[in-house]
Amino acid sequence: TRHLLGIKNLTRKDIELIFNTADNFKEIINRPIKKVPSLRDTTIANLFFENSTRTKLSFELAEKRLSADVVNFSASGSSVSKGETLIDTVNNILAMKVDVVVMRHPNPGAAVFLSKNINASIVNAGDGTHEHPTQGLLDAFSIREKYGDLSGKKIVIVGDIAHSRVALSNIYCLQKLGAKVKVCGPPTLIPKYISSLGVEVEYNLDRAIAWCDVAMMLRIQLERQTNVSEGNQVKLFPSLREYANMYGLTAERLNRLDHKITIMHPGPINRGVEITSEVADSEHSIILNQVENGVAVRMAVLYLLSGREF
Ligand code: CP
Repeated sequence: TRHLLGIKNLTRKDIELIFNTADNFKEIINRPIKKVPSLRDTTIANLFFENSTRTKLSFELAEKRLSADVVNFSASGSSVSKGETLIDTVNNILAMKVDVVVMRHPNPGAAVFLSKNINASIVNAGDGTHEHPTQGLLDAFSIREKYGDLSGKKIVIVGDIAHSRVALSNIYCLQKLGAKVKVCGPPTLIPKYISSLGVEVEYNLDRAIAWCDVAMMLRIQLERQTNVSEGNQVKLFPSLREYANMYGLTAERLNRLDHKITIMHPGPINRGVEITSEVADSEHSIILNQVENGVAVRMAVLYLLSGREF
């Protein structure tokens, strides 16, 4: 059975095949009739055990544009609240003849766990702080669309690296495509192991953006900064106000550079914290292009997992 569990185990060739397939789907979904019959024999369940706006709707649209039958499951409002396990939940859904499971889950490793315990193709739509492979792919696809090639491009990922599955999937994906990657943020939000992945750490945002072609801004994930023993939110250091001052991307900061950089953000944005509205909505921002490309990239992933070739 084929799965997409993360980018770590993909090759550059795999990624390029996904991108070339996504190019075809992007062209198709810009036509007046956006739909193709490719997956009309396939039933896909979208299982969201954690909240989502973009990923959930993007997968659903990708599936519908491939003519798959689609069912959506959110943990809230389900029988998970009655104590049903993950495997029981998924096996009950599979008993209804589902072929592919797209899952977002708060626990790192949940997608791998599921792939070893159930009989269906699994697509990881984000597993806790671990990976968000389709986000990494759509981000790299969007940079490729702007620059043609990622080889030698300098990309800085700024913010809450410690809690970010988007950062990890992007680090794997961008490096496999030949880009140079730095991470930037306060020491409290950059894990020590990150250097072992071959990325440089820069604690100063002004130096980081002076170096880069592309700045990928991340949200501070307050919801993951909990004290496990007490279930309370721990005091954030730096505070959001200190963070915005030190690491917030502002027009003033960008105006001091001697070159223009491309601005990215996976969303959701906290306007005024990691990025100002002026920057997020500027002509150098490709934030909504990322969202647009997500549908074509997810169509490509689902199509290729089905074993079909373009
Ligand atoms: N980028 C992203 O994963 O957004 P959602 O959490 O809204 O899906």
